[in-house]
Amino acid sequence: MQLLQLANNHQIPAIGYGTWRLKNKPTTVDIINDAISAGYRHFDTAFAYGNEETLGQAFGATKVPRSELFITGKLWNDDRSNVRAACTRSIKNLQCEYLDLYLVHWPASPAVHKDWAEVNRKVWAELEKLYQAGLVKAIGVCNFKVNQLEELLKTAKIPPMVNQIEYHIGQRQPDIVEFCNQHNILVEAWSPLGSGKMLKVPELVQLAEKYQVSPAQLSIKWCLDNGVLPLPKSKDPERMRQNLDVFDLKISPADLKILNDMPYVGGSGLDSETITLFG
Ligand code: A2P
Repeated sequence: MQLLQLANNHQIPAIGYGTWRLKNKPTTVDIINDAISAGYRHFDTAFAYGNEETLGQAFGATKVPRSELFITGKLWNDDRSNVRAACTRSIKNLQCEYLDLYLVHWPASPAVHKDWAEVNRKVWAELEKLYQAGLVKAIGVCNFKVNQLEELLKTAKIPPMVNQIEYHIGQRQPDIVEFCNQHNILVEAWSPLGSGKMLKVPELVQLAEKYQVSPAQLSIKWCLDNGVLPLPKSKDPERMRQNLDVFDLKISPADLKILNDMPYVGGSGLDSETITLFG
């Protein structure tokens, strides 16, 4: 597995295993064990996913040393005034001693909080303390748009090292990616396969056939070629392996452009500036 470097030089495996939709069920332990066997060392979870304890069972029992795993957790919105306790709870649940990366799951929504920028600043100052205390090796955010990042950077002592956003063919959010590139913030892609629906788009299927790979493999390499770290999800061991087997694929510049220009084919529809469901 290729490694990338975060702004503080902490190394991060270039493809991570996404765990959204996996729940605290015995079968989840088997799925995580399958992912470890398939070669995943980077796991992305969140308190809000409701799977930390089961992931912790797999991490606690694996023979893979902790130093070879990269584990990301996320602070849920309800815990904004409770950051240290939320982080230590996640570390305990995940049986992982420390987190490699701790992310703010959602910015405070302007549709819910008049003082959204101040809420985000306060939360960020707490994450900085966790980093300085060594509970987490790196810190970052998710779903932050450019103006939300700009506001945060006004007072951040430590800039975010990661911004995890919805990113897949047809939804590139190029303004956010460009801003992050300029500020040495690694962009991670959630739903890099467009939650699976995108994989049936005929143009993508045709292009994948040309390269003799699957649409999922083409989508994952497309992320990497755009400097974005993909976090694909699959419960199927064969697909898990397939989704890691992408590093030999060489997409031509012309085809990369075709993929970059593909129209929107659907996504989550979640917008961190207007969301009221959870702010
Ligand atoms: P499954 O778990 O049955 O493999 P995303 O990562 O964008 O959220 O997409 C996840 C969806 O994509 C899941 O429904 C998953 O189904 C499907 N998926 C993951 N990898 C592949 C693949 N290599 N080929 C086809 N579908 C895939």
